[in-house]
Amino acid sequence: MHLRTATPDDVSSLYALWGRAFDAPLMVPVHETDDSRLDRTHVALDPLDGRVVGSVYWTPRELGGPDGRTLRAGGVANVATAHEARGRGLVRALLSRAIEQMERDGADVALLFTGTPDVYRSSGFETFDVPLLRGAPRTLGDAENRAEDDLAAESFHLPTPGDTPPGPETPPSGPGGDAPLTVRTDRLPGVPWPAWSVALGWEQLAALHEAFDAVAERPRPLATRRTAEHWERRIPLWYSGAEAFSARAVDGEVVGYLVLEPGPGVLKVRELGVDPASDRADEVVDALARTTLLRARFHASPTVEVRLPAHALTERFAAAALDAPVAGSDATGMLRPVRAGADVVARLREAAGAGVGFHWPGDYL
Ligand SMILES: CC(C)(COP(=O)(O)OP(=O)(O)OC[C@H]1O[C@@H](n2cnc3c(N)ncnc32)[C@H](O)[C@@H]1OP(=O)(O)O)[C@@H](O)C(=O)NCCC(=O)NCCS
Repeated sequence: MHLRTATPDDVSSLYALWGRAFDAPLMVPVHETDDSRLDRTHVALDPLDGRVVGSVYWTPRELGGPDGRTLRAGGVANVATAHEARGRGLVRALLSRAIEQMERDGADVALLFTGTPDVYRSSGFETFDVPLLRGAPRTLGDAENRAEDDLAAESFHLPTPGDTPPGPETPPSGPGGDAPLTVRTDRLPGVPWPAWSVALGWEQLAALHEAFDAVAERPRPLATRRTAEHWERRIPLWYSGAEAFSARAVDGEVVGYLVLEPGPGVLKVRELGVDPASDRADEVVDALARTTLLRARFHASPTVEVRLPAHALTERFAAAALDAPVAGSDATGMLRPVRAGADVVARLREAAGAGVGFHWPGDYL
């Protein structure tokens, strides 16, 4: 078997291999967001007809390290071997070449996500656990039931304490909380996210994401340091099956956002963005939790999954959204050292297990 990096002539045969190996419509579009993809796509060729019968691709990333510094990572994806060539160590050999190339490129660690971790263990990868909570959606109160009628509208208003008429029982409104927040539906599945606009620019979300993703004012361990290119090209693809909502102040300023992915039997919370330093952070989280409950009802989802980094605000969100939550974990992520020592990977895995280290689904590889 001939092993090398891919050339433009391999592309149709490469895509045919992926088409047979996966039911993953995003694989090619995500690969195509990387302008240097072929130089990092390692292929095995059938010596008889030159067809691509095996592939391993990797993409460079900057990730938060365990100590607040930034790490260089190689993200592995598009791993496939044609049926007739399986079981002969092809993927092991291609992974080894990819890791050698990452090492030359200065990568500290390699990262991947998989449902078949046993494929990667002999190549030095170890899984890491990310805690999550699953539960039935909490019951909505009367006020929220009324808002259900507005679900299909582009914009709907969720009552907040500021709406309550003044009276002896009126809860005090929080600082800056006089004008109610509005939660607006910004994207539904099938509406292409690349249509960023003045009404919803990615920069508005990026500022909230960065504020929420800081751990002691340093980058979150394991999280991809997002670039403009990620926001403009990759995140819209990974969230193309998701819904997005923005929480807005009365002047239209985006003060929070939420990404939900409806699926069979479960509504997954994919991303929450809020600035923890904002004096309205609790109010934003409460409004977005109510939006989650409205969408769970709309999709008739019996279960809501909250997989978010550990934070007082995500605890608040989960408490507002889930009834009798059950703790679980996601063990689809794997890491291995490249130039870094094994201790760096051990600390990243530990940070992930504690819910502090986190890799957002919008940054998948
Ligand atoms: C999984 C797949 C890539 C393996 O390719 P391959 O060339 O046959 O793999 P190799 O012969 O190099 O085997 C590498 C290791 O994976 C293990 N392995 C292979 N297929 C496996 C599977 N389906 N599940 C679990 N382990 C598997 C092998 O036993 C071997 O383990 P070892 O190194 O500890 O002995 C191939 O079966 C495939 O393309 N499947 C469909 C697409 C897919 O699942 N890709 C991975 C998605 S993350």
